[in-house]
Amino acid sequence: MIVFLNGQFVPEEKAVISVFDRGFLYGDGLFEAFRICRGKPFLWEQHMRRLQQGIDLLKLPMPYTSGQLREHAAELIRQNEMPDSILRLIISRGIGARGYSPKGADHPSVVMSLHPAPVIDPGHPPQWTLITSSVRLPANDPLTQSKTCNKLSQVLARSEADAHGANEALLLATSGEVAEASSSNLFWIEHGTVCTPPLAGTILPGVTRAMVLELCERLNIPAMQTTTTPGKLLQSQGVFLSLSSWGIVEAVTLDGNNLQRSPLLKPIRDAYNKALEEHSGLQA
Ligand SMILES: Cc1ncc(COP(=O)(O)O)c(C=O)c1O
Repeated sequence: MIVFLNGQFVPEEKAVISVFDRGFLYGDGLFEAFRICRGKPFLWEQHMRRLQQGIDLLKLPMPYTSGQLREHAAELIRQNEMPDSILRLIISRGIGARGYSPKGADHPSVVMSLHPAPVIDPGHPPQWTLITSSVRLPANDPLTQSKTCNKLSQVLARSEADAHGANEALLLATSGEVAEASSSNLFWIEHGTVCTPPLAGTILPGVTRAMVLELCERLNIPAMQTTTTPGKLLQSQGVFLSLSSWGIVEAVTLDGNNLQRSPLLKPIRDAYNKALEEHSGLQA
């Protein structure tokens, strides 16, 4: 595997970051995960907008423009011959003096790597089992709105899911309402309306989440941003998750209880998959 590291394309065993890098020491950095389809990154601009918000929040010096990164990404995909994959982009603040102060840490490390995309059989789309995690997400935390390199709540939640043999973990906000899942945004269907928690400072503004809301509008499916609890999810007409790597994934159980299955999921998932295909077709 060839990795992009600070302007160079190097074999992965030579793609090495200092033990004094602040991303390693403090999680002082950001990342994005893009779906690459037929050699093209899907929803590049949307991911870059979220990355830029994180860069503004952390005041990270960014050595590349979006256009330069995109060119480097295209070269990485070419060199690795991985036109269907997941691209991970990481920007860490780089090396600084000992201590939390970012003063003087002016040379960020920029890494891009490619990973296999999930293999999805369109005839048998994935169905995930969920558990409710014991980890709570704080309200009004600006850090939850960026993909910072500090994702310990998500790591703990996901390890709880692993321990239960589940595919994903739901995280509640400290208020007890469901916020999102460890690496995906949550949707449920209530009285024919597609619902999702609002961007109120507790959840990651998922790129796929925004796309789902846009697709609902295009398909004339009513959608609203509101709150819910795990108990109400069990009463809902269906639950699904959204994330760049897998797209739209139906949830079939929560804490061992069967969830209802909604016929509304299919048109939304089909429209998403079509957008993914058309996007790569248009740009080819
Ligand atoms: C905590 C969290 N929420 C939601 C998502 C989904 O975001 P996106 O649709 O931008 O991939 C992710 C993706 O990794 C995530 O880590």
